[in-house]
Amino acid sequence: MRISVIGCGYLGAVHAACLAHAGHEVVGIDRDESRARALQDGAPPFYEPGLQELLREGLDAGRLSFTDDPRAAQGAAVHFLCVGTPQMRGGDATDLGALRGAVASLLPSLRPGQVVVGKSTVPVGTAEEVARTLRAACPEVGFIWNPEFLRESTAVEDTLHPERMVYGVEGSAAGADGSDPSGSGTAAAAIAALDAVYAPQLQDGVPRMITDLATAQLVKVAANSFLAVKISFINAMAQVSEASGADVDDLADALGMDERIGRRFLDAGLGFGGGCLPKDLRGFRARARELGADGVVDMLTAAETVNESAREDVLSLAARMLEDGRETTGAGIIGARIAVLGATFKPGSDDVRESPALALAARLEEAGAEVVVADPQGVRPARAAHPGLAVTDDLDGALAGADVLVLATAWPEYRDLDPQHAASLVAGRRIVDARGAMPLARWQEAGWDARSL
Ligand code: UGA
Repeated sequence: MRISVIGCGYLGAVHAACLAHAGHEVVGIDRDESRARALQDGAPPFYEPGLQELLREGLDAGRLSFTDDPRAAQGAAVHFLCVGTPQMRGGDATDLGALRGAVASLLPSLRPGQVVVGKSTVPVGTAEEVARTLRAACPEVGFIWNPEFLRESTAVEDTLHPERMVYGVEGSAAGADGSDPSGSGTAAAAIAALDAVYAPQLQDGVPRMITDLATAQLVKVAANSFLAVKISFINAMAQVSEASGADVDDLADALGMDERIGRRFLDAGLGFGGGCLPKDLRGFRARARELGADGVVDMLTAAETVNESAREDVLSLAARMLEDGRETTGAGIIGARIAVLGATFKPGSDDVRESPALALAARLEEAGAEVVVADPQGVRPARAAHPGLAVTDDLDGALAGADVLVLATAWPEYRDLDPQHAASLVAGRRIVDARGAMPLARWQEAGWDARSL
């Protein structure tokens, strides 16, 4: 099938490469000429495990191409909208400028019988607006909202083997059997076309749910908000554990044995970041406020507050350790050399957007510490985001002369650092595991003051 993918960031580039892998003829279109060129050269402008190999495969087979020319969408049977929906400058709401631009650029290419599929994360109500715009230009075009749940660092795997697929179609009485709620035949044809696109996944037995447009849009922001709340819940429990002498990791293990709760996303620590969870939480909160859903607003605000407080908790823990348990004034931070291990928002990615690790580094620096940040993948983006900050991929160089180490991103090479080796480099044997990922007993045996949040 001929397919166009409009917007080639993490979502679109991976989606295009995976569709070509499945045998489709795919063109990826991005208005950023340098990004389109890099992808066409088989060199993704960001780090995503497995993507480069898949790109090469599609490009070499002649099934995959990238361009900045929107006219390349002409003749595709299915058009995917995969553009970014960032947070509005100076507010919580979602900026739909790129999405509206993508839809406008697609209109001249649309022909009856083609299908447009929205995948971007949007505030509920957006898909209906897109449908109206499309229909005004080409009434016989099919339309489905099909949110994407991929995670950075496992994006290829998540796209090839998703846990579920959600199709939002127009009309409120969409049947799970794929019956046509609009009665026009367009919806059924659109569902059939999308089923053909996703044939490999459907053959694998991936559940596919058909629902209305509003629900499909909400599933995505509700899922990300749930994950954010889950992380903040365990971080709030970490605060209680600290105050009561409980062990939050054991607590998470015991909670997680209840199948209704589950252990995943109960790792206490520095909290969530990245290009999705924080901005989706804020965008959803802004939309919920417009809709008068105050319960959502309050809950998401609480999750955000807890998330941000973890940075202060690390700062005061480091200060306490530097002041050797004396009544802490926070002054111990001033002039201390602190090595922050990790810059990216999570391991396996070079993404530093809303990275808790970088926010912590900046906060420590602001409090008077001499900070050096180490990261195996994120040096360039971290330096671009924080030009004043010392960032290196040389771990030993970062450890040299440090008074305190802070594990801020659980990269395996940092998590598995050897305490003996580290001890030979640092000035003071103090380490804060802000990701709950290190074998602290081993560090303590090696003579370190090793603590977690
Ligand atoms: C997230 C969702 O997990 C995806 O399902 C969704 O499709 C994606 O956003 C999106 O909207 O596109 P991602 O941003 O790649 O994916 O990152 P996650 O793996 O969810 O991690 C988010 C943050 O939470 C990271 O900073 C991570 O370190 C933190 N985290 C995660 C914790 O602090 N504790 C945990 O237990 C788990």
